[in-house]
Amino acid sequence: MQENISKYISEIQNFSTDNLEQLELFRIKFLSKKGILSNLFEDFKNVPIDQKRETGKILNEFKIILENKYSTLRNQIDISSSVSNEYDLTLPGTSHNFGSRHPISLVKTEICDIFSNLGFSISEGPEIEDDWHNFSALNFPVEHPARDMQDTFFFETNPDILLRTHTSSVQIRTMEKNQPPFRIIMPGRVFRNEAISARAHCIFHQIEGLYIDKKVSFADLKQTLLFFAKEMFGEETKIRLRPSFFPFTEPSAEMDVTCKICKGSGCNVCKYTGWLEVLGCGMVHPNVLLNCKIDPDIYSGYAFGMGIERIAMLKYQVKDLRMYFENDLKFLSQF
Ligand code: PHE
Repeated sequence: MQENISKYISEIQNFSTDNLEQLELFRIKFLSKKGILSNLFEDFKNVPIDQKRETGKILNEFKIILENKYSTLRNQIDISSSVSNEYDLTLPGTSHNFGSRHPISLVKTEICDIFSNLGFSISEGPEIEDDWHNFSALNFPVEHPARDMQDTFFFETNPDILLRTHTSSVQIRTMEKNQPPFRIIMPGRVFRNEAISARAHCIFHQIEGLYIDKKVSFADLKQTLLFFAKEMFGEETKIRLRPSFFPFTEPSAEMDVTCKICKGSGCNVCKYTGWLEVLGCGMVHPNVLLNCKIDPDIYSGYAFGMGIERIAMLKYQVKDLRMYFENDLKFLSQF
């Protein structure tokens, strides 16, 4: 038996193939159920006791040599067939094109982060609104021009339902449902019936801020906005508040920041004034608090609202608003 085994071993060692069919014949000959290996194990039962130890050792070695040979040849054939037939491992891989964030999202996140650091939390409301939340509760008189069909998209079937014209409607929704104090920031999409041009669009984005508590003053508003302007536009930025009018705030103001491009000396972006208008703000009108069942003798507060496109235009110096809505990858991949 031992002699037979050494014969087989040299046969195995001399065997080589890169052909799957020949390898299969090899396997059948040596490794199948009725193959040489199982026959040898079968014969092993008849080996005299005193030779069992030695023969067993040789038989096991034979088994290992045989199995190693088979798996090595099998791997070689697998690799060479996959390389030659299916894959060229030297080809460069397919790269994945990562998208980039939309500039409006980037600016929105940046603004939200600045106010989150001051303790404001984020609140959102519906884009389809009713007259109460968009106008009446915000102290808009019935004859106010903003209610005009020219500015507002009303639903033809129900003139009480409209697309919100500003995010101030979320102030009302939040104050109606919760108890003061409030310190919230409200980003969202708004709609106005305007002809689309480089400077105006019928859809744009706003961020609204609201702070209601006991003894909130205009000085708190000014300091918060100054902090925001410095964070957003740089430490050297100055702000200026000009008196303005909104039905839902009294007093009201518009805030300008020093022009970052010319640093105040005058350029075509700031129309040679050195200042850029960025937001509207004011102290929440007592009627608005009363409409939300909040006592204006106990609570006071401020609100502000800004256009995200406007801030993005100043930050990235993109002068045509339409670029933000066209989804042109050449434009978007720059951010
Ligand atoms: N809602 C105003 C607008 O759309 C902005 C604003 C918000 C003004 C809050 C004052 C306070 O222009």
